[in-house]
Amino acid sequence: MSDAEAESVGGREDVWTEKYRPHTLDDVVGHDNITDRLQSYIERDDLPHLLFAGPAGVGKTASAVAIVKELYGDNWEENFLELNASDERGIDVVREKIKNFASTDWSGRAGSKPSIIFLDEADALTSDAQSALRRTMEQFSNNTRFILSCNYSSKIIDPIQSRCAVFRYAPLGDDAVETQIRKIADEEGITLTQDGVDALIYAADGDMRKAINALQAAAVMGETVDEETVFKITATARPEEVQEMVQTAIDGDFVAARSQLRDLLIDKGIAGGDIIDQLHRSVWDLEIEEEAAVRLMDRVGEADYRITQGANEQVQLEAMLASLALEPGE
Ligand SMILES: Nc1ncnc2c1ncn2[C@@H]1O[C@H](COP(=O)(O)OP(=O)(O)OP(=O)(O)O)[C@@H](O)[C@H]1O
Ligand SMILES: [Mg+2]
Repeated sequence: MSDAEAESVGGREDVWTEKYRPHTLDDVVGHDNITDRLQSYIERDDLPHLLFAGPAGVGKTASAVAIVKELYGDNWEENFLELNASDERGIDVVREKIKNFASTDWSGRAGSKPSIIFLDEADALTSDAQSALRRTMEQFSNNTRFILSCNYSSKIIDPIQSRCAVFRYAPLGDDAVETQIRKIADEEGITLTQDGVDALIYAADGDMRKAINALQAAAVMGETVDEETVFKITATARPEEVQEMVQTAIDGDFVAARSQLRDLLIDKGIAGGDIIDQLHRSVWDLEIEEEAAVRLMDRVGEADYRITQGANEQVQLEAMLASLALEPGE
C-alpha cells in the first residue's frame, strides 16, 4: 500500500470489517441456530452466562456486541466491558477491572437488565486463573452476565462450562460469506465477478473477517474484483496450482514438483503454512487413488507439525514432495 492510500484509509470507520460490523443479531449471518436462541434469551429477559467457542472471524465478538446493543440501544457502551484475557497482565488485573465495572451503580441503567462483560480469548487463562474467574462470576451474577469467547471450549474448565450456555460457532458456510461480501460490494459500488466471489470464499476458508479484508484490499486495485486480484492480494495459491504440484510429485517427477513449489513460495510469496492448509483442504478433491490420498494426508500432518514447531517451511514441503515422488502412485 502506498502512503497516499494508507492515508486515505484513515479512521476505523474506513475499515470495512468495522463499518459493516453487525448491529443486531439478525445481521450476524450464517449462524441462525445460535442467533435465534440468543434472541429468545433477550426476549424472555433471561440471559444466562454465555460461552462462545469457535475459530477466528466468524462472529463471536459481533454477536456479543449485538446482544448488548439489543439490550441497551444507544447506551450500549456504558453497559459493556470488553477484556482480553491474553492482553491483560494476569487474572488479578482482569478481576480488578471486572470488580470496578460490576460494582458501579449505573444511574442510566434500564430496569433490571444485566450489564455484560465480554472476555475474549478466555482459553488463554490458566486453570487457576479460570477458577478465580469462576468465583468472580458468581460474586457478580446478580447484575452482570459474562460472555466468554474462546477458540477451543475444551480449554475451559468444567465448572465454568457448566455455568454457561455453550455455543459452538462453526466456520462460515460459502453462502453466508457470499451474501455478506456481495452486500458490502454493492454498498461500496464495487463490481464483483462470480470467479472473484468464489476466490474470496476459497481464500477466506470460513473466516468472514478475512473475506471482508481481502475484498477491501482487492478493491484498492480497481473497481472490478475478480479471481486474479483476489489470489494476488491474499497471497493464496490457486487450488489448481497446489493440486498440480502434488500430482506431479505423485507421478514421480520430483524436480518439476519442486520447481512448482518454488514458484509458489518464492515468486508468488505464499507462506508454506498456507500451502499446507490448502493441501489439507484439497486432498479429497485431487483425482488420486484413496491410498495415495491417505499417504498424502499423513505427510501433510507431519509437515504441518514440524512447521508449527519452527522447522524450515521450504525444507519440509520439499521433503513432503520427495516422499510422495519416492512412492509413485498407481
Ligand atoms: N457471522 C457474521 N456475519 C456478519 N459479519 C461477520 C460475521 N462474522 C464476522 N463478521 C465480520 O467480521 C468482523 C470480525 O468478526 P468478529 O469480531 O465477530 O470475529 P470473532 O469471531 O470474534 O473472531 P476472533 O476469534 O478473531 O475474535 C466483524 O466486524 C464483521 O464485520
Ligand atoms: Mg473476537
